[in-house]
Amino acid sequence: MLHLRVPSQETQHVLLLLKAESALPERARVRVDSSDANYRLIPFTQDSPPKKVAHYPVLDIAIEPPAARNYRDHLRELLPANIVEATEWPTRHEFVGDLILMKLEEHQRPFGNTIGKALLLQNARTRAVFEDRGVIGTFRVRDLKLLAVRDDESDSTRTKIIEGGHHLWTDPATVYYSSRLSHEREGTLACAKNLSQELGRPLSICDPYAGVGPSLRPLIVEPNLVAELFAGDLNPAAVEFLRENIIHPAATIECADARELKHRPEMLENYDLLLVNIPHDSLQHLSHLLPLLRPNGVVRGWAIIEDEDFDNSMQHLHSMFGEGVNLEIRRSYSATANLCRFETRKKP
Ligand SMILES: C[S@@+](CC[C@H](N)C(=O)[O-])C[C@H]1O[C@@H](n2cnc3c(N)ncnc32)[C@H](O)[C@@H]1O
Repeated sequence: MLHLRVPSQETQHVLLLLKAESALPERARVRVDSSDANYRLIPFTQDSPPKKVAHYPVLDIAIEPPAARNYRDHLRELLPANIVEATEWPTRHEFVGDLILMKLEEHQRPFGNTIGKALLLQNARTRAVFEDRGVIGTFRVRDLKLLAVRDDESDSTRTKIIEGGHHLWTDPATVYYSSRLSHEREGTLACAKNLSQELGRPLSICDPYAGVGPSLRPLIVEPNLVAELFAGDLNPAAVEFLRENIIHPAATIECADARELKHRPEMLENYDLLLVNIPHDSLQHLSHLLPLLRPNGVVRGWAIIEDEDFDNSMQHLHSMFGEGVNLEIRRSYSATANLCRFETRKKP
């Protein structure tokens, strides 16, 4: 690329002149002249320098093009410049294992495959890119459409994620998994360890809305923490993943409606720790689950609560558990609601 060789104190002046002549490349990089540190090398875009700077010597320097910083830089390699400039491109995408999921607006859909290819160019570890068309059904799975896949690779939505150092298989098209609550799962591990220490023995744990098992994975690898474990989900696909992800000699894994477990005598008052993670329905389901908990056992759950319902929800929990309920806002869910965590003990 052609550069002007300029005394360093004149750099700003020359930059301004080139800019005014539209002769300064986008993201132009000024270099120090390696033969004399008192000089700078300034790139310009035309075949010869504009008149006002024509008195400076011109050097032709071989330069690597600047590395792309995001997928939109790669779009410039794949689409005409006028389209890249005129289009508003999606700014957010989500990594799930070796997949990328991205929401598209209507005007972006015709470029879906190109956006996917640009994302693959930018993210060497990504295998395939899907349009995320939203959450569907009671199992809250994603409606996914393939945008692009790496050559000779599978376009399957099955993928392996790593959370807190633990590997879990999942498939966003058939089961629910979100990394957003990973810090809550660290809290669940701490809660279980404290309870086990207090009781002086390993625990009997029930996770009836286990999904692919992200809450249980950190618990089962902990020595002497789990004596008995029930992991269930109503989604048969999630149960298949549980069987793969949750390998423990004391684990019972079943496809079951959590609300029906109270009809099984062997499960009544059998658990020290009960997890209730069905945030849109947790507070409604809770009364069905309480019979599973031992007296003094701990229930830890998550619920989406509208701002205006917060006090009522607190009262509902008090009426079930007495005063010792901890109900905390953990993160915003929408303009009017929050994801909250409740933790309390069953009355002795
Ligand atoms: C929000 S997800 C939580 C999954 C998992 N605990 C996690 O943290 O990733 C709720 C799960 O409950 C399951 N589910 C929905 N209704 C259910 C029911 N009545 N009984 C058992 N599981 C149910 C869904 O399939 C889903 O996997």
